[in-house]
Amino acid sequence: MVKNYGLLIDGKWVENKKTLNVLNPFNQKKIASVSIASVAQIKNAIQNSQYAFKKWSRISVKDRSQILKNLFRIVKENKKSLSETITMESGKPISESMVEVDYGASFIEWAAEQSLGSYGKIFESPELDKKMFYIKKPVGVVAAITPWNFPLAMVTRKVAAAIAAGCSVILKPSELTPLTALKFGELSIESGIPSGVFNIINGDAQLIGKLLTESSIVKKITFTGSTKVGKLLMKNSSSTVKNISLELGGNAPFIVFDDANLDEALEGFIAAKFRNAGQTCISANRLFVNEKVFEKFQSMLVNRFKQLRVGNGFDDVDVGPLISNEALEKVESHIKDAAKKGAKLVFGGKRSDAGELFFEPTLVGNVNKQMQIFKKENFGPIIPLVKFKSEKDLIELVNDTEYGLAAYFYTKKTSRIWEIVENLEYGMFGVNSGKISTYLNPFGGLKESGIGREGSLQCLEPFLETKFISWRVND
Ligand code: SIN
Repeated sequence: MVKNYGLLIDGKWVENKKTLNVLNPFNQKKIASVSIASVAQIKNAIQNSQYAFKKWSRISVKDRSQILKNLFRIVKENKKSLSETITMESGKPISESMVEVDYGASFIEWAAEQSLGSYGKIFESPELDKKMFYIKKPVGVVAAITPWNFPLAMVTRKVAAAIAAGCSVILKPSELTPLTALKFGELSIESGIPSGVFNIINGDAQLIGKLLTESSIVKKITFTGSTKVGKLLMKNSSSTVKNISLELGGNAPFIVFDDANLDEALEGFIAAKFRNAGQTCISANRLFVNEKVFEKFQSMLVNRFKQLRVGNGFDDVDVGPLISNEALEKVESHIKDAAKKGAKLVFGGKRSDAGELFFEPTLVGNVNKQMQIFKKENFGPIIPLVKFKSEKDLIELVNDTEYGLAAYFYTKKTSRIWEIVENLEYGMFGVNSGKISTYLNPFGGLKESGIGREGSLQCLEPFLETKFISWRVND
């Protein structure tokens, strides 16, 4: 008998007859069912979040911070079971899930610390009879909509910062991976977060999105996911002029210059490409290699690809399954489109026999910018390889995309590093490093990759409003 999970509304678990199935992407077996929220339940969650906000926003930052520190500790204590749940529902290798729990927990600890340092500002007033200053206040009820690729870390990056700022939160996790979020909900109760401050609803994404965006009680939408859905949320939020943060798609370039340490570049690339089987918005999506080292680096890549172990996330593997059939079909269609337009398969190129939702690590050469594999986010273990000559042409080519999230490059020339960072239209850079994910990173992108930043020293900012006071002293 698989377990049926409810919804977390106002500190209570509420069940519903209508449920959705959660599948293990490794073998498509049902692992749990989750209640689908009704319209009344969604409205109830919104209303109760409003009541909870009124109390929570008046609790001292010291107490808020302490509760979040409890939550941090409890999450760390539950690392094993959380990691297993992540692998079970997302398919990613268990070693990556363990890293995700630490990464996810780090956002809670960081938000707890940042809440203690939250402040406004007092100005030297230009009018002598006045004091002028501003204070920071929580925005109110926050709706957080999170993706399936990091079932814990994308939740904590939003939820912990919002709660630390004094907001209440309604979380809508991905219907593909809701179990980690629900377990996190159980831990939140244990930590002492008061009823109604953190709510979790699941179900029909369109309906939930509509009710949350149209509600005048919900003051903030924070979303991580596709650019397509981000645009829709932005449009729907306009009727209530809602504060919105969006962390959307990417098309990350990974550049290897002729002076790069090729061994380091190779390992950096493997890390940036194959984390979660290429299903992250900062995954390397296009590989640019200077012509002088192209042949050598290509053969290093082929040898390294041969070593990648593909399989069940609970075994000792490097690459797990894709999340769904839709994801697999997209990857496959990008390969077919590239082949039709003249690309050459250098390695891999088809579904893997490791299971139904697996695709082989794939290297595609002879790529041009008309191909889907070059233009679009692949979200899979495939990579187009492009030879470049001049730095000027490279910059134009790399910027020729509507996305601007992460970029990576390897070079030893320090003068070049600044030049590239200045000229590339991206929000985050890995310089001689394929790893950029940390609580210190102001995570977010330019262009259609989103609006706003998460994490970092600014982590509370998206959940705060500014109130300016011009105070004439009249007694
Ligand atoms: C994402 O894929 O959306 C986030 C990845 C990260 O935080 O490292």
